[in-house]
Amino acid sequence: MKPSVVLYKSLPEDLRVRLDAHFNVTEINGLTPENIAAHAEAFRQAEGILGSGGKVDVEFLQQAPKLRAASTISVGYDTFDVAALNDKGIVLMHTPTVLTETVADTMMALVLSSARRVVELAERVKAGEWQKNIGPDWFGIDVHHKKLGILGMGRIGLALAQRAHLGFSMPILYNARKHHQEAEDRFDAQYCDLDTLLAESDFLCISLPLTAETHHLIGREQLAKMKPSAILINAGRGPVVDEQALVDALKDGTIFAAGLDVFEQEPLPVNSELLKLRNVVPLPHIGSATHETRYGMARDAVDNLIAALTGKVEKNCVNPQVLKQG
Ligand code: GLV
Ligand code: GLV
Repeated sequence: MKPSVVLYKSLPEDLRVRLDAHFNVTEINGLTPENIAAHAEAFRQAEGILGSGGKVDVEFLQQAPKLRAASTISVGYDTFDVAALNDKGIVLMHTPTVLTETVADTMMALVLSSARRVVELAERVKAGEWQKNIGPDWFGIDVHHKKLGILGMGRIGLALAQRAHLGFSMPILYNARKHHQEAEDRFDAQYCDLDTLLAESDFLCISLPLTAETHHLIGREQLAKMKPSAILINAGRGPVVDEQALVDALKDGTIFAAGLDVFEQEPLPVNSELLKLRNVVPLPHIGSATHETRYGMARDAVDNLIAALTGKVEKNCVNPQVLKQG
């Protein structure tokens, strides 16, 4: 008998065919805390889950006693309680490589659009405000040759450094848990402590996962150390930045602008103060959201689940120690 799996979102046709060839698939779109009970039997039987629909924690795992593998269609896995998965010997798979270049493109788009006020000025043109030659109140600030600071030098940070350094002649500073030799060798990236990164960066680009250590890593005190001309870019996870402190810093001129793809609450509530600020470029968490890359992520997640449930994991595993416990 084929193992049962729960699928959290519709897949492209060819990938669904591949998944069906290996598993008995129950597709649940729009899982909520309210309707989870209606799907109790599917979770009771599930040996695998593909995608994510809310927290996968101790409570969830009680409803899925046969679970052996979880495969998320993302690089981030902060909605999974990895310790709880480890306890039960459940393998967690993610998609860390396929989206790297696309997310770095998104970060560069935020750098350019917040510095040059692309979105705001386009809106003014569309509103019919371009009636005569523009003056300094339409000007932005330069990107090329400015210092780009990267907080969290992983694959995405490296791809951003490549764009900024080679394409825009930007000196690269970075802070991370450890030195990144390739970033230093290829893009002349300079390692520095967080305070130096805050004080010297013209663009502070955050590419960190959300963990207990990174939650509110950037708060009032850290924002106060940045230049008044600095721009904060966050495409990691919203809660790495204290959002209220950021709102205040953007309002009172502590920093110049922010380009944000992620927020403390998503979707961003329509009454968020961030939406009232001229100097914010808010995006709807589209870091990896291109047709090509979202397809690639879904394909990798399907392959990851097949590998995990057939005991052939070679890559993309968050907790490989579970495999050794066998
Ligand atoms: C997107 O945010 C991801 O984690 O892939
Ligand atoms: C992880 O978040 C990365 O930067 O690759």
